[in-house]
Amino acid sequence: MKNKFPSLIKIIFNLFFLIFTIFILGLSFNSCNPFEEKPVKAKNGMVVSASSFASKVGVDILKQGGNAVDAAVATGFALAVTYPQAGNIGGGGFMVIHLAKGKNTTIDFREKAPLFAFREMYLDSTGKFIPELSQTGVTSAGVPGSVAGLIYALNKYGTMKLKDVIQPAIDIAKNGWELDERTAKSFEYYLPEFKKYPSSLKTFTKEGEPFKEGDIFKQPVLAQTLELIKKKGTDGFYKGRIAELLLKQIRALGGFITQKDLDKYKPVEREPIIGNYRGYKIISMPPSSSGGIALVELLNILENYSFKQNDWGRSSYIHKLVEAMKYTFADRTKYLGDDDFYPVPTKVLISKKYAKTIFNLSRRAKADKIGKKAIPSEDIKTGKIISFKESTETTHYSVYDKYGNAVSVSTTLNSSFGSRIMVEGAGFLLNNEMDDFSAKPGEPNIYGLLGSEANSIQPEKRMLSSMTPTIVLKDDKPFLILGSPGGAQIITSVLQVILNVIDFNMNIKKAVDAPRIHHQWLPDIIVYEKDIFNGNVKNELKKMGYTFKDDNAKNRKIGMVAAIMIDNKNKIILGAFDKRGPGTADSY
Ligand code: DON
Repeated sequence: MKNKFPSLIKIIFNLFFLIFTIFILGLSFNSCNPFEEKPVKAKNGMVVSASSFASKVGVDILKQGGNAVDAAVATGFALAVTYPQAGNIGGGGFMVIHLAKGKNTTIDFREKAPLFAFREMYLDSTGKFIPELSQTGVTSAGVPGSVAGLIYALNKYGTMKLKDVIQPAIDIAKNGWELDERTAKSFEYYLPEFKKYPSSLKTFTKEGEPFKEGDIFKQPVLAQTLELIKKKGTDGFYKGRIAELLLKQIRALGGFITQKDLDKYKPVEREPIIGNYRGYKIISMPPSSSGGIALVELLNILENYSFKQNDWGRSSYIHKLVEAMKYTFADRTKYLGDDDFYPVPTKVLISKKYAKTIFNLSRRAKADKIGKKAIPSEDIKTGKIISFKESTETTHYSVYDKYGNAVSVSTTLNSSFGSRIMVEGAGFLLNNEMDDFSAKPGEPNIYGLLGSEANSIQPEKRMLSSMTPTIVLKDDKPFLILGSPGGAQIITSVLQVILNVIDFNMNIKKAVDAPRIHHQWLPDIIVYEKDIFNGNVKNELKKMGYTFKDDNAKNRKIGMVAAIMIDNKNKIILGAFDKRGPGTADSY
C-alpha cells in the first residue's frame, strides 16, 4: 500500500504530462502546418492574385456590380503597379473566359517576334547560341501584348468603362503602396541588374539606396503612362508619346522593335482547348501556349488509371505522374509552337485515343525492363539538357463573379522584372520573352525547355508559352479556376492541383499547398519539393531507375497557384493563394 500511492501519483502525473504534450504538439502542428489552413470563403465573388492590393482592386470592381472580366482587367492593370516582377504592361499573357451564358473563349495577348526578327538572330557567326542575347537586354524583348489584350477583353466581354477599371491602378501608382519584405528584398536582389539602366535604378531604389520593408513605393511616371492609356485606349500605348519613348529606348540599346511592330500588334481571340477528365470539362489555353494541350494530354493519359485515396504520394503514384510528364513534354518539344505559323497536331495530341497509346507504351516498357519501371527519357527521344533555372516570376490570377462568370489569367515579363529595362520616361519594364522561342534545335532555353521547328523564330510569330490558365467545369458550370507561374513547372503544377481536387478530394487550399513534383522529359530527373517524399518513397523510386534534382531541394518551390473552387451545391465560393507566395484570396 505504501508503495502504491506514489506510483498512482506517478501515473496521474505521466497521464497529465502526456495529455499536455499532445495538446502542445497539436497547437504547434496547427500553427506551422499549412495543410491545416482553410480556403477563403465568399458568397458573391472572389479575386485571387499574387498581390493583396490587386486582389482588393478586383473585388472592389465586383462590388460595384462589374463582372469577372471588368474585375480581371482592373486586377491586371493593378498588378502592373503592385507586382512589378511579373504584372506588366510591357509583357503579355493569356485569358480564359467562361461566361455564365455558356460561352467559353480565350484571348491570346502573347508578345510577338518583331518584324526584324530572324531564325538565327541569337547565334554568332559560327552558329553558336548566345543566351545573353535572348535572355537579357532589349534584344530579348518581344512586342508587348498586355495593354491590347486587356482592353480587347474589356470591350468585348466587360461591362464597365476603361477609365473606371484602370483608375485604381493609376491611384496606387501615384500615391504609392507599402512594400512588403519580399518585394523590398527582390528589388535589392536585382540591384546589380537595375544598375545597368538608369531608369530602372531610379525606379527601384531610393536614389541608389535599396528600399526597405514598409517604405511607400510610388511610381508617378507609370501613373502618367496609365493616364494616357485611360484617355486613348490602346493608342495611348502603341502610338504617340509612350510608343516613341519605348522605341527610343529600343534604339538606344540596339533592339529590334519598330513602330510598325506596335501598329501591327493585335490580340487574338481563340477557341479554347477542351478536354474531359473523369466527367469534368477542362477549358484551357491553345497555342501560342502549350499549356492547354499539355494539360489535357497529361489528364487523358492519367485517366487510364484509377487512383485510390491512399495512393497520393506513393512511389507508384509518382511513377505514373512522371511517365505521363515525360511523354507529354517530349511531344511539347517536337510538335508545339504558334499554330498561326506551324501546323500543330492539336486534335491528335488531346485525343483519348492518342493518350491510350502512350499509356500502353509506358506499360510495355515496364515489362521489357524487368525490375525497372522508369523509362529513360532518351528512349522517348534524344536531346541534351544539363541544367535549368527555376523561378516563379510569371503571375496568375483567378476571378469569379456573382453572375457565374469565370476568368483565368496568366501574364508575364518572362524572367523576374523581365529584361530589367525600365522604359525611360514611361515607367514600365520591357519583357525578355524572346527566350521562349527555340533559338537553335537542341539548345535549351532559360527553363531548360527544348524546341524544334514548330517553335523556331519567325517575324510576327508568338513564342511558345507554358502558361496554363484553366477553368474546370462540373455540369457545365465553373468548378475550378486556376493557373500558376513557374516556366515549364506551370503545366505540372496546374495538373497536380486538379488531381488533388478531383482524385483525392482535397479542399482547394490543401490541394494548392500540397507538395509537388515535376519532370519535363529532359533533363531526365525528378524535380521535387522536400515534403513530397514520405518514408521510403524516394528509395523505392530510385530502385525503379529514377534520379533526382537534389541541389537546393530544401528551398525549392514548384509553381505558385492562385485558385478558386465553386461549391455550387452549397453556393459557396472558395479561394486559395499558394502558401509558396505572397498573394491573397479577396472575397465579398
Ligand atoms: O510563357 C512562358 O511559359 C514563360 N515565359 C513563363 C515564365 C514564368 O513562368 C516565369 N516564372 N518562372
